[in-house]
Amino acid sequence: MNQTELMDLLQHFKWYQRIRLTDGVYTPGPMASEKKLQRIQLPEDLRGKSVLDIGCNEGFFAFEAERRGAAYVLAIDSDAMARKKFHVVKHLLKSNVEFLLLSVSDLHERTIGRFDVTLFLSVFHHLKDPFLALDKVASVTGEMAIMEFLVAGIDGAGVEEPLVVRRMREGGKRDLLPTRAFLVEALERSGFAKVDIIASYWRKRLDGYAGRYFQERTVGVGPAIPTEALTTVRPRTLEGCVGPLRSAGRSGAGCLDAVQEMNQTAPAAATLTAGRAARP
Ligand SMILES: C[S@@+](CC[C@H](N)C(=O)[O-])C[C@H]1O[C@@H](n2cnc3c(N)ncnc32)[C@H](O)[C@@H]1O
Repeated sequence: MNQTELMDLLQHFKWYQRIRLTDGVYTPGPMASEKKLQRIQLPEDLRGKSVLDIGCNEGFFAFEAERRGAAYVLAIDSDAMARKKFHVVKHLLKSNVEFLLLSVSDLHERTIGRFDVTLFLSVFHHLKDPFLALDKVASVTGEMAIMEFLVAGIDGAGVEEPLVVRRMREGGKRDLLPTRAFLVEALERSGFAKVDIIASYWRKRLDGYAGRYFQERTVGVGPAIPTEALTTVRPRTLEGCVGPLRSAGRSGAGCLDAVQEMNQTAPAAATLTAGRAARP
């Protein structure tokens, strides 16, 4: 494909991320993904690691993990358009990263295994059940989750700070923005043994609120379970997956149904939470 054909192809889609395809050619997304990459402190060396990118959109971070040597990378997103764009980039980069059209709420250790590193970047505030999603992320994380959240706060509020602030968006859409302290508490209750906040940025006044309310982006890093309780659970590659998930993954169609079907036959939650940090 020559440069003109490539530019024509890219124009068929509305891009979110800016991904380098070849010398001087990028997907024309508005997001400063390179800057976010520095802020999240993704390890430079991922050789031998398995990585799961949850809510990957076009796959910037998943492809980057592969570039840093990860042995197996799975990217998931619930948006069919993200899947199309992901596959355009995958083809152009000649990548081996796998994609599943899957919601975070359908993540299950039994169906996809557990990954050394999980990425959960800027997805939380889009979700209907955001706190349930934290349990899901913890359940498929082996060593470390790197998570970016939109949080809210009030300048100088101290102990009177609310736990969650509702943010109104255009079109009547509402997001739940937890405060930072509440978020850390929720992460620990979901099974993250220890959560470190490693960066905060893009602070601005919170739309729709007067005075001292602000929103900002915060990156937290947490090991999912105490190291001593870790059992080795490898991720299931689509190749190694049983029945419906494998065929769905290969064709790219119907995989959500397949995973849901497998989730319904999964063992009771007690088995799956074994070994996680004790709840306070
Ligand atoms: C703001 S974008 C962030 C994309 C990427 N993680 C990043 O940081 O550049 C949010 C992404 O989450 C995806 N998403 C929303 N709800 C989801 C869900 N329930 N399960 C999986 N992905 C979801 C959207 O389709 C979108 O691609």
